Amino acid sequence: MSRRALIETGADAITRWIARLYFDVSYRLLAGSVGREFLEAARDPDAPGGHGYATSLDVQALVEALEPLPHDTLVDLGCGIGEVAIAIHRRTACRIVGIDAAPSAIAEARRRASAAGVQGCVRFLVADLASPPSGASAGYALDSLMFVRRPAHALASVSRSLEPPGRVFVTLLAPGRLGRAGLVGLIEGAGLWLESLDDVTVEFAAQSRRRASTARRMMLARPSLAGRVALLLVLAEETAVKHLIGHGRLRRWRFTTILAGASSSPAPEPVGRA
Ligand SMILES: C[S@@+](CC[C@H](N)C(=O)[O-])C[C@H]1O[C@@H](n2cnc3c(N)ncnc32)[C@H](O)[C@@H]1O
Repeated sequence: MSRRALIETGADAITRWIARLYFDVSYRLLAGSVGREFLEAARDPDAPGGHGYATSLDVQALVEALEPLPHDTLVDLGCGIGEVAIAIHRRTACRIVGIDAAPSAIAEARRRASAAGVQGCVRFLVADLASPPSGASAGYALDSLMFVRRPAHALASVSRSLEPPGRVFVTLLAPGRLGRAGLVGLIEGAGLWLESLDDVTVEFAAQSRRRASTARRMMLARPSLAGRVALLLVLAEETAVKHLIGHGRLRRWRFTTILAGASSSPAPEPVGRA
């Protein structure tokens, strides 16, 4: 498969099915006491917990890119357990609808929103991120778009369901050999303009190391069987991430898109194809 086809096609049907099963099981395990302790201990100290990859720089960049106001509604595409949505609401007072395919993630997200007393403003639904509720002001997808079919086209279709200019903030893992130029070509080819594009692989690798060392340390405390399985899953994921990044086969990107031609101002400055 060519490098272009890899991300144009996105995850194939079997990978999507395995990813769904993996997330549903891992959220069930992480909802236990060991999992909660892990998510709290492994997170970037300045960022919400989420599935564990969102960093303080992601959250800062998200707020700067979308500039949500209290009357705005953002859609969180692949919201996981909802921690990022709750944190963004607390920071900006905007409303958020979080959607995720994993019922266990949505159950935990609703529990967390109730515990935080924000369930009136931060709602969660089981849904496919490629078909979000329409009419939101803008959207964001943190490390979730790579699990859908044809991510760039899914992103364009999501943008069309939002208020103009259909702005979406994204963090995404992509094959290393796709490179910046390949990613720009795919996004523009789907009818979107890039307002910003940053390679944040180094930041992601640091967060992955933090997750792995936290899981290893917690294993030494001999947790329950379910806790051990949860930590082993984390270790397996982080070992794969370390290997793939070390061999240049995986990169993490952070970018913001709008619909091409949706803005009355000229196209944003090219973000570079080097
Ligand atoms: C790596 S996790 C990131 C979760 C969250 N955004 C965060 O940063 O903590 C990827 C999430 O995408 C969700 N997901 C994968 N495919 C999806 C789809 N087609 N529709 C909705 N959610 C999906 C998974 O269930 C999982 O919660």
